[in-house]
Amino acid sequence: MNNGNKKSFTPIERLEGKITVPGDKSISHRALFVSAIASGISKIENILIADDIMSTVKCLNSLGTEIGIRDTTAVVTGNGIHGFKEPTNLLDAGNSGTTARIMLGLLSTQDFFSVITGDDSLRTRPMKRITVPLSAMGAFIDGRDRANYLPICVRGGRSKGIDYDMPTASAQVKTGLILASMGAKGIMTIREPFNTRDHTERMLQANGIDLKVSDKVIQLACSQKPLPMNIRIPGDFSSAAFFIGAGVIAKHSDILITNVGINPGRTGFLDILKEMGASIEVTNTGFEAGEPTADIHVRQSRLHGVVIEDRELIVRTIDELPLLAVISAYAEGQTLIKNAGELRVKETDRIKAIVYGLSNIGIKAKEFQDGLRIEGGEVKGGEVSSYGDHRIAMAFAVASVSSRKEISIDNFDAVNISFPQFMDIFNMLRYA
Ligand code: S3P
Repeated sequence: MNNGNKKSFTPIERLEGKITVPGDKSISHRALFVSAIASGISKIENILIADDIMSTVKCLNSLGTEIGIRDTTAVVTGNGIHGFKEPTNLLDAGNSGTTARIMLGLLSTQDFFSVITGDDSLRTRPMKRITVPLSAMGAFIDGRDRANYLPICVRGGRSKGIDYDMPTASAQVKTGLILASMGAKGIMTIREPFNTRDHTERMLQANGIDLKVSDKVIQLACSQKPLPMNIRIPGDFSSAAFFIGAGVIAKHSDILITNVGINPGRTGFLDILKEMGASIEVTNTGFEAGEPTADIHVRQSRLHGVVIEDRELIVRTIDELPLLAVISAYAEGQTLIKNAGELRVKETDRIKAIVYGLSNIGIKAKEFQDGLRIEGGEVKGGEVSSYGDHRIAMAFAVASVSSRKEISIDNFDAVNISFPQFMDIFNMLRYA
């Protein structure tokens, strides 16, 4: 473990201010992919500038797509789904599961040879969930454990649409399959076990693609061609969540976060916090890039523990569960999280990382195969590790706002994966 970038956070007295957060990560990836397969020039404003997005940019560059980025605006010159060129080297998805799984969908439509890999974490994450249906569509795909782990090689190009019942709820897989259908023939039907974030469906429908969605079934004719687009990306709910969480547990707080995406597939965190007793107002609702947006106002609140087990709610909260577990340390009583085994195959085993971290700062927590239990109590402070996982790093930074002593987090630079601007915004609130 690299201790080189340890960061210490001292508790604070108040947390106040009006902020915006950078563009949504999931929507930024999708905007790049869809623009790359369109024929012509697309402009993406307020794109997230972070390592995961750069992984998508570099992979698309290696396939011949030109992408110019200035500040937070990207200009993509798409050459159509059949305009990519065979890459001359490995494609590197870095730490980004979204890049790897969606890129596999795109590569499966290409009549050339490619190999995609990733960093130490990504090479341990399951890929069968996407390679099994892409192989069923007709692509040749191979890799360790029968194409479950990166590096994975693909020779595609002759795919047909399938009727696919997804065993695991995953918006990355769903998106990979929808993009794969654009280079295939026939009809594509995707059945989800639970509703997952529907950014891809919204973006494509806004683009004129004929795609039907009803009761967890997505259906579209293959070979449809998206048009170049102009899109402005709303603020990332998952980034805003850290300041919502910090606002709820700080001693004195008054935080307004403007222009945040509130896609219902993402906002389980708000529903759970409200059930725990949090004071959160969602106002000034609007619409941007086919996505609902709002301002979110948070104040310090007294919280009580809850049971989080509904599977649909777990999917709607998946990226915020580590943060919720940390916030539960400040709630009265126990919080139980169940049916969340997916947390074990994220950037790190997030169940283990949270249980170890909470124990190190004086909170009783117990892990189960598919979840964890947290006993609210006094957060004493201490040393924790991010395990190189951006969301673990930021969750423990939030824990520090009302801890008794400081919390030091090792490998804090992991935040650059999704939110390099985190410290600047956090400091604006801390030193307002
Ligand atoms: C994402 C989907 C989710 C989420 C990830 C981003 C996406 O992953 O956890 O951070 O952009 O589609 P799964 O598809 O594995 O559920």
